[in-house]
Amino acid sequence: MKGVVLAGGKGTRLSPLTRITNKHLLPVFDKPMIYYPIQTLVDAGIQEILVVTGGNHAGDFLQLLSNGKEFGLKHLDYTYQEGEGGIADALKLAEHFADGDKLCVILGDNLVEKSIRGAVEDFRKQERGAKILLKEVHDAERFGVAEIAGDRIVGIEEKPAKPKSNYAVTGFYMYDDTVFEKIRTLKPSGRGELEITDVNNAYIQEGTLTFGFLEGWWTDAGTFESLLRASNLVAESRRARA
Ligand code: DAU
Repeated sequence: MKGVVLAGGKGTRLSPLTRITNKHLLPVFDKPMIYYPIQTLVDAGIQEILVVTGGNHAGDFLQLLSNGKEFGLKHLDYTYQEGEGGIADALKLAEHFADGDKLCVILGDNLVEKSIRGAVEDFRKQERGAKILLKEVHDAERFGVAEIAGDRIVGIEEKPAKPKSNYAVTGFYMYDDTVFEKIRTLKPSGRGELEITDVNNAYIQEGTLTFGFLEGWWTDAGTFESLLRASNLVAESRRARA
């Protein structure tokens, strides 16, 4: 399986912090944000990684991450998203890199405490389809929200005003190579983006979406509140381990 970190988009919710740099280069405690999703992929046993970025500071990623040596990698791949057409628009740039393999995709602003290796191993064994990871939250209206019936997810709603559950769809997604066909059928949403939630709903329609739960804490870091929370959670974990 190959890994993809999506680090495009404007990060407007963090302006003015993002006026002169990319959101994913901002500090989360003692490291740039992008370090965390890359480390999560490496810890899950994934060695071939593509970073999708965009905007005016794409060159800074190359300077920061170089060939991934700091993560024990031999090489890192990069590509550039023109505009901010959404998460699924960024993912479609990974088709050439995937070359028919399964993908583990992580949003560049998502941090998790524990390893996702177990879920990745389960998906290696899954013949086809997709797998997503859920987390129970108290502010589900900020996320994609899963409607669960029995042992199945029957639908996902993107930022619903009235969430049908407290289970957020986290920014950790695993896909087979049909993901690119599915992205090609998408239409932009109300916010003008190709939504990853629509991709996941396409797998639900097909009956091939499985799910698991993230262990330990999970946060995004795309708002001032969540960016601060991310730093505090990393700092606490570091202290607990010391
Ligand atoms: O954090 C999990 C949530 O992430 C999910 O629950 C939602 O279903 C999903 O839509 C997403 O919601 P956000 O609205 O918070 O996503 P955001 O626009 O902040 O983008 C998250 C990351 O995706 C961002 O850090 C980089 C990448 N991205 C985003 C856009 C819009 C791109 O690479 N290109 C893009 O055009």
